[in-house]
Amino acid sequence: MPTKSNPKQYKGVEGDVQILVEEDAYQLKIGENPDNINFDLIDKISVWDKSVKVEENGYYWKGDPFITKGKLPDNGKPLVVELFCGCGGTSLGFELAGFEIAIGCDIHQPSINTFKANHPNVSTVLGDVRKVNPKSLLQLLDGRRVDVLIGGVPCQGFSLNNRKRHENDERNLLYKEFIRFVKELKPKVVVLENVSGMKSTGDFVEKIEKDLSLAGNMTVKSKLLFAPDYGVPQSRTRLVFVGIRGGKEFDFSEIKKTHGPETNKPYVTIKDAIGDLPSLKPNEVAIKYKKEPFSDYQKLMRKSLKDDKLTNHKAPNHPKEVIEKIKNTRPGTPMYPKFKQRIRLSWDIQSPTQVSGGIRPQFQFGHPSDSRGLTIRERCRLQSFPDNFIISGGIVQGRVQTGNAVPPLLAKAIALAIKKHL
Ligand SMILES: C[S@@+](CC[C@H](N)C(=O)[O-])C[C@H]1O[C@@H](n2cnc3c(N)ncnc32)[C@H](O)[C@@H]1O
Repeated sequence: MPTKSNPKQYKGVEGDVQILVEEDAYQLKIGENPDNINFDLIDKISVWDKSVKVEENGYYWKGDPFITKGKLPDNGKPLVVELFCGCGGTSLGFELAGFEIAIGCDIHQPSINTFKANHPNVSTVLGDVRKVNPKSLLQLLDGRRVDVLIGGVPCQGFSLNNRKRHENDERNLLYKEFIRFVKELKPKVVVLENVSGMKSTGDFVEKIEKDLSLAGNMTVKSKLLFAPDYGVPQSRTRLVFVGIRGGKEFDFSEIKKTHGPETNKPYVTIKDAIGDLPSLKPNEVAIKYKKEPFSDYQKLMRKSLKDDKLTNHKAPNHPKEVIEKIKNTRPGTPMYPKFKQRIRLSWDIQSPTQVSGGIRPQFQFGHPSDSRGLTIRERCRLQSFPDNFIISGGIVQGRVQTGNAVPPLLAKAIALAIKKHL
């Protein structure tokens, strides 16, 4: 059983001022029930441990797939199965558009915890998708058919933020796993999502379109979608593949933009998104809202709250020099010359792309007016996760989940367009 952790240590990197907290990565043992682990009481392993592959998260489940069967409601809604589901950004978007989420599969345990907590009826498969037999998913569906199969195939190999981007990265081949499931589950619709970097990496896009079309008896096409066009306060671009079984080619113009130049609504800004959340000092936490929502976006984010309890709003802790660094950075400009994307946010822009963080620094962006990094609730808001969506696993693993996710409002727009074809 895990023992109490040592106090956190701080380390500098390659002469850069970037400060890393030793990663709170604990590798679950084979047969260990993930539901019984107290993550506050685990030993930490170092991100500098050479036996841990760079970017392999220490919370990846190495054992046999761990399956939990949920209760599938009989409500007539079309069924969604999501591979590489993460914490469930895509699934939430589909749910908001009137779909029922039946199964989520992911290797990252905190993501599965979050997924399960926010979709209490779902079945989950925790494990490496390469070890999962698609027939075992059919057993979780009580004889019902999969309407939509979604795959948020891991993106590190393609990410423009990844300096080691490489077309032979083994994660790039995980789309073949998705194809294995398409063949067995025979969904009516497939949706595959990846980062925009895939477009410029080898001939993957054409290959995936061709392989998926063949496997699913459909014509699969792809398009880059820009999240702010769908009401997300973040410049995030995702490459989305869609195919409809036996139908004609999907027309991406059916995905309706809600914000920006082609509509009558301006893009949502950072102030619209997080301006109502309480100001915090580093390491401080707030559990109550102090302001009424003052933008439509804030009202939307708070609409589904059952009580007035604020969650995931704990500021990361920083050493003194980092606090000074943020304080002395003009909003809208980089905090570190070498990392142009790592800015101190300013109120009137959209956030740059949130990432899950490679060797996961404890924070990515500075807050526009407080001298600190963002809370997980602020990261959720910038991704369009509503405030009743609670992220499990602490700040560092929360960063991983929020950085990996498809913004739910973007996924909702895709889902609404697809629904017409079912
Ligand atoms: C881009 S994220 C998906 C995000 C998700 N669509 C969402 O909106 O929240 C990719 C996910 O793939 C998972 N993953 C990586 N390798 C995997 C594997 N071999 N088997 C299963 N899941 C894996 C990661 O843990 C990560 O959560």
